[in-house]
Amino acid sequence: MLKGKHIILGVTGSIAAYKSAVLCRLLVGAGADVKVIMTPLAKQFITPLTMATLSKHPILVEFFNPENGEWNSHVSLGEWADLYLIAPATANTMAKMATGVADNLLLTTYLSARCPVAIAPAMDLDMYAHVATQRNMAQLREDGVHIIEPASGELASGLVGKGRMAEPQDIVKAVEALFGEKKKSLEGKRYLVTAGATIEAIDPVRYISNHSSGKMGYAIAEALAERGAEVTLVSGRTALDVPVGVERVDVLSAEEMHKACVERFAQMDGAVMCAAVADYTPSVVADEKLKKSDDDMSIALKRTKDIAAALGAQKGHRVLVGFAMETQNERENAQSKLERKNFDFIVLNSLRKEGAGFRGDTNIVTLIDKAGAEELPLMSKREVAERIVDKIEKI
Ligand code: PMT
Repeated sequence: MLKGKHIILGVTGSIAAYKSAVLCRLLVGAGADVKVIMTPLAKQFITPLTMATLSKHPILVEFFNPENGEWNSHVSLGEWADLYLIAPATANTMAKMATGVADNLLLTTYLSARCPVAIAPAMDLDMYAHVATQRNMAQLREDGVHIIEPASGELASGLVGKGRMAEPQDIVKAVEALFGEKKKSLEGKRYLVTAGATIEAIDPVRYISNHSSGKMGYAIAEALAERGAEVTLVSGRTALDVPVGVERVDVLSAEEMHKACVERFAQMDGAVMCAAVADYTPSVVADEKLKKSDDDMSIALKRTKDIAAALGAQKGHRVLVGFAMETQNERENAQSKLERKNFDFIVLNSLRKEGAGFRGDTNIVTLIDKAGAEELPLMSKREVAERIVDKIEKI
């Protein structure tokens, strides 16, 4: 199950770091490609040479190599990984993760990671039970971090209680479950996702369109497929590759997108309407290139079909998720679309927020349903996709 998986193993300064060697060996033995990041203090507990030999990669500790200035990019590390596993995780590191402190490579990588993150806490029983540690753990859980519970038993201090890091074999099982769980949770389900911009021809040369790159919709299709769903991605023109395991149906105009979606929706368990669909299209498409003259020109436009509303009308038991791209009165407009189009929930993004909306790799969204609204912070589009799919799963 771990064959070919990219795992970053983060090691912090705890006596339990000696178990990280066994853990690394087990992960590599199970077929994972493991890169190890250590905090400076972790090197006092276990040598980088041991971890480098077992992981077959140089150990990463500093932001750059002082000998030759080579940069250890936490961003590309975060992108490389399928899982970031921090074992052992000290109370100190957990507190920093919970508050976003980024004063070593292990922590900057945490803040950059787009993949799931799991931690195996290790500390003395009183530190573990302390209200501050428990508060930090609750925060991390809320942030989506998977916590591999520590075991009870004899601790390095000689005291007996809960706080010792889970055994390496148990951590590997938890990691396998994490990958497995992700795969199976939507197995047997079929989802339709729309993505990208539609193109409304004016003549054979010119068209009306918008700035959608397709990134948000493709991230959703990928997240659904990774959890085992069969995904059909109805896509406007984009430069993006089709995510693994996803079937893509290429369309250009709103009319074509409408047809592709309406034809397929009956066979689906749900749909996510992420495409930026033109609301108007030229009333007539000129057969030949329109010639310019000295006069101004206007083009008559007619309404396109509302695809989401059409699916909403035949929704039945299916899950239907919409998007709202707004520039003013965001909440009110999104709320009205939620009701009008019969969505289970709507994902609001506003062009007024930097880092949100078209083209970039990040988004800032609010998930709104009949019960209320959940504002999410700035995240990668991939993380936003995971949160949307989490909500779909709950429905
Ligand atoms: O592709 P990216 O560059 O990553 O950018 C992502 C995004 C900004 C395009 C995406 O996050 C987003 O907001 N998509 C919806 C954009 C939009 O058209 O919003 P809207 O408020 O105009 O439409 C509301 C909903 O109705 C949307 O779910 C839309 O897909 C749907 N709709 C709209 C018009 C129409 N004729 N048919 C539809 O189905």
